[in-house]
Amino acid sequence: MRIALFSSQNYEVPFFEQAVNSYSELEISFISESLNEKTVSLCQHYDAVCVFVNDTVNAQVIDKLADYGVKTIALRCAGFNNVDIQQAKQRDIKVVRVPAYSPEAVAEHCIALMLTLSRKTHKAYNRVREDNFDLNGLLGFNIYNKTVGIIGCGKIGQALVSILNGFGANVLVYDPNIGEGPYTLVSLDILLAQSDIISLHCPLNEYTHHIIDDAAFAKMKAGVMLINTSRGALLDSKACIAALKSKRLGYLGLDVYEQESELFFKNHSEEIIQDDVFSRLVSFPNVLVTGHQGFFTKEALKQIATITCENLDAARLEKPLINQVV
Ligand code: NAI
Repeated sequence: MRIALFSSQNYEVPFFEQAVNSYSELEISFISESLNEKTVSLCQHYDAVCVFVNDTVNAQVIDKLADYGVKTIALRCAGFNNVDIQQAKQRDIKVVRVPAYSPEAVAEHCIALMLTLSRKTHKAYNRVREDNFDLNGLLGFNIYNKTVGIIGCGKIGQALVSILNGFGANVLVYDPNIGEGPYTLVSLDILLAQSDIISLHCPLNEYTHHIIDDAAFAKMKAGVMLINTSRGALLDSKACIAALKSKRLGYLGLDVYEQESELFFKNHSEEIIQDDVFSRLVSFPNVLVTGHQGFFTKEALKQIATITCENLDAARLEKPLINQVV
């Protein structure tokens, strides 16, 4: 099976080279470009494509893939909002993903964002390097006894609940699909109204697009902390800017951004960023942005490569696909 792996990054190649060693019939070509309407022509002579979060796998791309004889799309991530699943089904292309590789990796990154924003360790690091030991401006707050609201409590949300319970936080959860657990299940409105910190862990779909907008901010406590490590378009970025300016939003931690496909995973340090919304967001002193690195641990990369190769080999052998997206 010949596989075109798009959006390839140097850091993931060794993990895939090691994983693919166990499968003599799988042959991976690493392609640094992302998959989209312009690059899909590179897929001629391949049996499968392997894509990541910001590859564009819309109906147009899928039609071309089908015409070239591609039979499998292997997502090397959990979310699949960038793939037109209906079109893939119509064109008889199987879509597989890695449903869970390390929920703890994302949950721990979420905590890193919370603690950095609260305790301002990023500012302290720079100050101390310049022999500035002044504490003014570094005042933080305890997570102990705070109310933390989690929107969407699947694998990552549950991992976060465990950590937050260790901190002694009061954990509220809004998730229409889960039962009782070591948290208090509440409506979205109650979660928005009562939380000191809100963290998003639901998938992006037509129901959750801009789940946090102007109306949602209006229901929150003044000075709330908001963390999004899920998908950028869960948040209305312009509403975030307005809420930061009015001080309703006291802290914002983002690992994802609505228009991230233009920016993330590449070095733009020699360029002028054209996205004014993004530039405004990062200009606030109480906003911390990381470039979609929640998943980025050694353990997670190993698991992603292993499961992706298992998925591809199962597709090659036409075995039942346990990780198929249907
Ligand atoms: P999951 O499928 O285990 O859990 C998602 C939960 O959201 C489910 O319990 C579901 O019932 C709930 N949900 C669905 N619709 C909802 C709604 N309208 N309101 C509230 N809850 C709703 O997914 P998992 O593994 O926990 O991942 C969550 C998201 O995290 C993924 O969809 C992905 O977008 C993102 N992610 C981000 C990563 C990063 O590196 N920053 C890495 C991996 C995932």
